[in-house]
Amino acid sequence: MELFDLIVIGGGPAGYLAGERAGHAGLKTAVIEKRSLGGVCLNEGCIPSKAFLNSAKIYEYAIGGEKYGVTTKGASIDHKKVVERKNGVVKQLVSGVAATLKANGATVIKGEAKILGRDETGFLVEVNGEKLTAKKLLVASGSVPVIPPIPGVKDGLESGFVMTNREILDMTDVPERLVVIGGGVIGLEMASYFNSVGSRVTVIEMLDKIAGPTDGEISNILLKNYKSKGVDFKLGCKVTMIDSGNVIFEENGKPASVPADKVLISIGRRAFTDGLGLEAIGVLTERGAIVTDHNMRTNIPGVYASGDVNGKSMLAHTAYRESEVALNHILLKRDNMRYHAVPSVIYTNPEVACVGETEESAREKGFDFKTATISMKYSGRYLAEVEKGDGIVKLVMDKKFSRLIGVHMIGSYASEIIYGAAMMIEAEMKIDDIKEIIFPHPTVCELIREALFLL
Ligand code: FAD
Ligand code: NAI
Repeated sequence: MELFDLIVIGGGPAGYLAGERAGHAGLKTAVIEKRSLGGVCLNEGCIPSKAFLNSAKIYEYAIGGEKYGVTTKGASIDHKKVVERKNGVVKQLVSGVAATLKANGATVIKGEAKILGRDETGFLVEVNGEKLTAKKLLVASGSVPVIPPIPGVKDGLESGFVMTNREILDMTDVPERLVVIGGGVIGLEMASYFNSVGSRVTVIEMLDKIAGPTDGEISNILLKNYKSKGVDFKLGCKVTMIDSGNVIFEENGKPASVPADKVLISIGRRAFTDGLGLEAIGVLTERGAIVTDHNMRTNIPGVYASGDVNGKSMLAHTAYRESEVALNHILLKRDNMRYHAVPSVIYTNPEVACVGETEESAREKGFDFKTATISMKYSGRYLAEVEKGDGIVKLVMDKKFSRLIGVHMIGSYASEIIYGAAMMIEAEMKIDDIKEIIFPHPTVCELIREALFLL
């Protein structure tokens, strides 16, 4: 029975990063992955969706070029080629992960891991009928889509009429009518892409706003943008049934329906712990997610959990950082996980990027706060590059300590700018100190500095 210092279950962002760091630190490490290295993010999440959205953006630029003095004739988008290109990008990244793990000395085992228990040598894990032991365990088994118990969903998934993120990112045809259930991040990114490539898209969202906890003003601007592009939104509507060719929902207490050629279910994800054998060693879960502390420790000494499986912040960059924190704890280095400055991005066109408290959450938490909002039209670069844009930058300031606690943006480059705001919040910089930073001109990011003077 082979003995490892660390066994990592799952080869997604949380698992492969942990494997790389542990191998690099000289720990004898195994990463066990049952499907494909890279997990959801590389194979059926972050990367495929961004490859899609980039093609849509190029196409939109091409067909909308005239207002910038550029005329293109016969611009078209070939969805099959977009999928092919996406597959190439995924392949390259997945093999990059395999190569990096190998270069760091980690062993990759393809198979499904099951925790059997523990003995005097460590934790017992079975994979492909073989037993391994490890002094430490890191569970990084990720998440899966929530599948609601709505009549017709199960049959629809079997027939291919209903899809999750996995199937939609491999679908090579463009459906004439796509119905998206759930107006959160996945729903909006996919609505954005399929709207650009010609589907008639309807988004059915249970709440009266899209984009979940996103700042209300920004969520409204995004809604307005997509309505004007032709996406139909049914807000405050609950889906009650799916039959072949129709999605039936409740609107103002009355039944309504919308025809569909394909349906995407994107109503959230749940931590995946099925069949892992957590109960064999007594790992505590709460509502399906593994309970962790600020060092990513579970209730069982020597067992850690990072990434989506702990349900704290289902984002790849959070997963990376959590794995680093777990590894540092294993290596007896001081480190703590903090969640107050985790940026998030919705890669629609326009992009949405946020970090920290929104006006709504600051109010709920009882902060004494102030906000400042500035239109992106105050940026020379934005005005030079975007016709009729309605982007904004919004700051939330804690009055007591004169510090930024939230930055929210919709518009060009938001995804690339937001890390700067995350740094300011993480470093607890005072407003007056940020004012002394020189931002490049002309850029969109200099609006953060500009907005500080409105506070
Ligand atoms: P996962 O990526 O889910 O990896 C877990 C791995 O564990 C899987 O490969 C699984 O096969 C494996 N596994 C599970 N059980 C076992 C077992 N018993 N034995 C062996 N292997 C096992 N996040 C962002 O930050 N930015 C984005 O732009 C973004 N876009 C997304 C788009 C979509 C459509 C989706 C669905 C998600 C997106 N996310 C994005 C979220 C991101 O993908 C996840 O936060 C990230 O993948 C979590 O990493 P993880 O390692 O915790 O889990
Ligand atoms: P989500 O939590 O972002 O959105 C789900 C939406 O579905 C919510 O608005 C919710 O109100 C709605 N909903 C729930 N039940 C419903 C029902 N029965 N009928 C209609 N609407 C319903 O979840 P989503 O979009 O599935 O994404 C899962 C996670 O994946 C995200 O929370 C995020 O962590 C990650 N992700 C991140 C991305 C990024 O960083 N750009 C992109 C895509 C996913």
